[in-house]
Amino acid sequence: MRIDIVTIFPEFFDVLNLSLLGKARQSGLIELGVHNLRDHTYDRHHSVDDTPYGGGAGMVMKAEPWGAALDAILGAEIPRVDAATDGPILIFPSPAGDQFTQAMARELSLEQHLVFGCGRYEGIDQRVVDHYEARGRVRLVSLGDYVLNGGEVAVMAMIEAIGRLIPGVVGNPDSLVEESHEDGLLEYPSYTKPSSWRGLDVPQVLLSGNHGAISTWRHQQQIERTERVRPDLMSPDLLPPANAKQSPSRRR
Ligand code: ADE
Repeated sequence: MRIDIVTIFPEFFDVLNLSLLGKARQSGLIELGVHNLRDHTYDRHHSVDDTPYGGGAGMVMKAEPWGAALDAILGAEIPRVDAATDGPILIFPSPAGDQFTQAMARELSLEQHLVFGCGRYEGIDQRVVDHYEARGRVRLVSLGDYVLNGGEVAVMAMIEAIGRLIPGVVGNPDSLVEESHEDGLLEYPSYTKPSSWRGLDVPQVLLSGNHGAISTWRHQQQIERTERVRPDLMSPDLLPPANAKQSPSRRR
């Protein structure tokens, strides 16, 4: 997969040299380009923002540097013959976007080319999104219902979630299967040696060697945990009848 990022803080993405994603870059599974938006400014101060039309607080990112930076990356790739289903996806992290989920991460992990545009300040001039939407696939994606100072942290999170789903990035693919959100449930609790620590014992069933019992216990734990922590994720057929109409309990 090819990933391009446009940002005014390119150093922010130096951490993508580390760990599994760093290895994936070294082995060529992920090809990364980080581009400084200021390299596409032509005024003396390399300004990327200006005051908003209509007034109001804060600054808005100017369309011209964004257009120049994105054209340089997308080049001949946009417009495409079938822009709705083909070519790179341009992703703008934004609290006003679609909620990023594991399902979206999986869907995006199948793409050939992702281009992330990290906005700052009060956002990017709307015409940038409008312009590229008319030429290809553009998505506004939100990490959650809170406001970050810019898109960089959101893009890091998305790249990590997407990158680890690319075949070969995570050494043991089995470890991707039994994770939170993969089957719509939160994951079960895990334990390792020693079997007793500060008076707390590992659940007996995990020491039993009975794989059927272990698997049943883990599934029950997933259901119990999801019901307790994220009842919104529970499908009605997994809820015990007595709990079906209860308000969410917030025990630990
Ligand atoms: N930029 C600022 N806040 C954001 C959020 N919650 N998600 C994605 N991008 C953002």
